Amino acid sequence: MLKFQEGFLWGAAASAPQTEGAAAIDGKSPSTWDKWFELEPDKFYDHVGPSDTSNTYRHFREDVALMKAMNLNSYRTSIAWTRLVPDGKTVNPQAVTFYRAYFQEMVDQGIEPIINLFHFDMPWWLMERGGWEARESVDYFAAYARIAFEQFGDIVKKWATFNEPLVHIECGYMGDAHWPKVHNFKRAIQVGYHTLLAHAKAVAAFRELAIPNGEIAIILNLSPVYPKSQQSADLEAAEWADLLYIRSFLDCTVLGRFPEKLVAMLKKSGLAPVTEEGDRELFALNTVDFIGCNYYQPLRVQAPIAPNDPITGPRDLFRGYDWPDKKINPHRGWEIFPQGIYDIAMRLKNSYGTIPWYISENGMGVSQEERFAAQEGQINDTYRIEFVTDHLKELQRAIEAGAPCFGYHMWTFIDCWSWLNAYKNRYGYYRVDLTDDTRTPKASSFWMAQVAKDNGIDSGNGPD
Ligand code: BG6
Repeated sequence: MLKFQEGFLWGAAASAPQTEGAAAIDGKSPSTWDKWFELEPDKFYDHVGPSDTSNTYRHFREDVALMKAMNLNSYRTSIAWTRLVPDGKTVNPQAVTFYRAYFQEMVDQGIEPIINLFHFDMPWWLMERGGWEARESVDYFAAYARIAFEQFGDIVKKWATFNEPLVHIECGYMGDAHWPKVHNFKRAIQVGYHTLLAHAKAVAAFRELAIPNGEIAIILNLSPVYPKSQQSADLEAAEWADLLYIRSFLDCTVLGRFPEKLVAMLKKSGLAPVTEEGDRELFALNTVDFIGCNYYQPLRVQAPIAPNDPITGPRDLFRGYDWPDKKINPHRGWEIFPQGIYDIAMRLKNSYGTIPWYISENGMGVSQEERFAAQEGQINDTYRIEFVTDHLKELQRAIEAGAPCFGYHMWTFIDCWSWLNAYKNRYGYYRVDLTDDTRTPKASSFWMAQVAKDNGIDSGNGPD
């Protein structure tokens, strides 16, 4: 049996917009997702929008009971900004009632809540004022964060500010997968800067309130970067990818500063964000207590072709590399590379010392998962059990090697709505039937219940 340390957090992760439903009732204002679905429903897989989720807003007690039945001792979700402070100023009492009941239910059932504040769900009214491009978004976010800490700080002790900030920056300002679908690297840099500033201001508010036993984090998608070869051009490409996608976030939130090499390059290229006096101190003073690490797959890169100098975007620094030997998840198309968990753990240990962290997301999306239904509709997801086993083995190896990792959360608990992909790729320990909200356990839920109970994996309990 590969054992984990006592008190290890076994759990799952989700977010408010992907689970709650009730997108337009009880005082909630629209987020960019609610509005985008209204404007362009054809963009959303099967025309399933953010109202059409597993409806945790109504079923949260049942869901927490299912967590308990699975022996989970922790769960991460988020608060919807648009529900708690619908106009950016006024606290919505119905939201307070809902979240207090939800979080208290978790605590009462022995599930530690880890509560995040922003999971890609920008309020529409703020997006109309410029979203994260506008400096005022920083203060609006900090005010919302303070309200959340004040309203729920007596129940919730572990907090996070943002989930995967890289994603709303990249998908919204260097791609089409998030609103406002802008393609402009300079604007993306400004959005990233304001996001990190909003994070630091929220941490400052948290410190001021001094919640007893409170801890605050940021949740980052940390894909370890691997160069195509050991040739200097590929190594340099990997260094830039790491600076842009990993160190920009980790250095800022853990060490309180940005990497000098990255700042110099942005300045030289005319891409540096607009800053204000006092920002530097804000970052320096407001570092996190722990990190959430979302790991799905590695980032493989190689030297760019004919790069511009000064650079105009990431493609002048590196380009993706399709490793021919990769193992692929055929049901989602992402690489499966369990060793990446060990490598990112060592990276955190070697570069960021003793900062505690946990795996805040890891998981395997499967399209048309009903294909794998066995008796009575139960999904026989042996591929997911194999996936988690392989990743847990690498995580255990990292902990043995000194990584201060305190938990493993699976994405996700109950199949959830996933942005433009809606319910295309299912990730849960439970399958949800969207016609009547029924939750049905998959084989992996029974397997994980045993792992959590044993606080370890049996080598006979899953593939070697
Ligand atoms: C994670 C996000 O990175 O990926 C989640 O935090 C998202 O919000 C998940 O749902 C899976 O994405 P997809 O596109 O496979 O459904």
